[in-house]
Amino acid sequence: MSLSVSLHDAESAILNAPLAALALGPDTRLGPVGTALDKALGGVIARAIADREFRGARDEVLHLTGGERGARRVLLVGIGTPAQKVMAYRRAGALAARRAKGLGAAALAFHAPGITVGNELEAMVAGLMAGPWEYADLKTPVPEAERRAPLEKLMVVVGDARKAKAAFDAGVALGEGQAIARTLAMMPGNLCTPQHLADTAKAIGKRHDLPVTVLGRKELEQLGCGSFLSVAQGTPQDPKLVVIEYMKGKKTQKPIALVGKGVCFDSGGISIKPAPGMEFMKFDMSGAAGVLGAMETIARLKLKVNVVGLLGATTNMPSGTAINPGDVVKSMIGKSIEITNTDAEGRLILADVLGYAHRYQPSVIIDAATLTGACVIALGHHATGAFGNDERVLNEVIAAGKRGAEQAWPLPLWDDYKEQISSDVADLKNTGGRPAGSVTAALFLREFIPADTPWVHLDIAGTAYSESDLVALPKGPTGIPVGTFVHFVRGRAS
Ligand code: BES
Ligand code: MN
Ligand code: ZN
Repeated sequence: MSLSVSLHDAESAILNAPLAALALGPDTRLGPVGTALDKALGGVIARAIADREFRGARDEVLHLTGGERGARRVLLVGIGTPAQKVMAYRRAGALAARRAKGLGAAALAFHAPGITVGNELEAMVAGLMAGPWEYADLKTPVPEAERRAPLEKLMVVVGDARKAKAAFDAGVALGEGQAIARTLAMMPGNLCTPQHLADTAKAIGKRHDLPVTVLGRKELEQLGCGSFLSVAQGTPQDPKLVVIEYMKGKKTQKPIALVGKGVCFDSGGISIKPAPGMEFMKFDMSGAAGVLGAMETIARLKLKVNVVGLLGATTNMPSGTAINPGDVVKSMIGKSIEITNTDAEGRLILADVLGYAHRYQPSVIIDAATLTGACVIALGHHATGAFGNDERVLNEVIAAGKRGAEQAWPLPLWDDYKEQISSDVADLKNTGGRPAGSVTAALFLREFIPADTPWVHLDIAGTAYSESDLVALPKGPTGIPVGTFVHFVRGRAS
């Protein structure tokens, strides 16, 4: 399916669309574009609002049919009275486009009269692209006669296209990056292998002329990445440490390092997971997918900044060669680790990827990982857990998430919890028991960060993937943390 997205300020775009959508809150005025549409339709919109058939509540959708002239059909989409307008407009865009697809409309013209800020428009455009996204590669197509018309055209209608152009372009770039991340997360583990993640990185590199380095088992052995390799010990697939460099900033500027956990399937290893729901562990590479999606968007935006994207990819499998609980391994930076649970594999991989990141002397490191079930218990599915060794940078990342319509919430990274990961036989152990499981995981990662490097860890276990339908998005991957990464990097670009 090819879906084009275009920007318009001619009212004719919305007046003549087969399907027009307006995003409105309880008090949003229709504005000139909305009023023109309403007039062309003989006043049905104003009447629906006056009669309270449509109140503008969150996720409320009223479907009207057109009149003699004007758009053939109209959707009024409610945004409610949100605390976060960026979140609300992303959601409204996604919901409208998802409905458009369900209705079999070939084209949707969307207008949000309440938008005043670039970030809102950008999020709305990315939302429009996110709503109809699907992973249909592995399904036999529905017979032509039973198929609805595919949604082929998204038209974003604004008051002044010249003024809106930059935000619109950014929204499209973000939408493309998020689509890459979602496709990778949705792909089954037998297709989205470590090799496939490496190939995707190479494809992004080729598209934007960026150097990509791929290290396999042999190279990781030479580097002494015993922690990463301990996870990959039970799988015949070659693990991959992948680096994409985007160095378009000043030569003297130290790069931002974006790091992602790329476990293409997490069975738990010898500490095997229970069978129910294990299939979702194909998504355990969402952090890595986020890095790749962000690199795509950053390159499309041609930001003047230096960024290094790093990911550690493998599967976590039980086998005769797999690592056992009680085994001790040595990480690249030299710290020894007692593995008390082979299912706490993400931190073992990241230990060495973070160690490897040192060589780029990053100004800041942000990692994203579907790291702990405990984070899902703490924050559920609506906030990413955020940890950091530098409060200012932590707040900078959380603020970037807000601008990108991705919510994160801080959790403590206090030394008080450190005792939980001290080992009797090694420098550290890889689990700290049930209490504060996401905190002890983050403390483990901190051991592999140079003390003077600001670092933020994002636990996206609850936010990267949804097992239930999210109204605006179908169940499956959300695209998180691409928006957070991109907005952070953009905030630091010159
Ligand atoms: N990939 C999982 C974390 C996870 C669990 C994400 C559920 C989403 C939903 C991770 O590798 C893991 O297994 N973590 C363990 C750690 C424990 C053994 C200390 C967990 O959370 O149970
Ligand atoms: Mn695990
Ligand atoms: Zn995992």
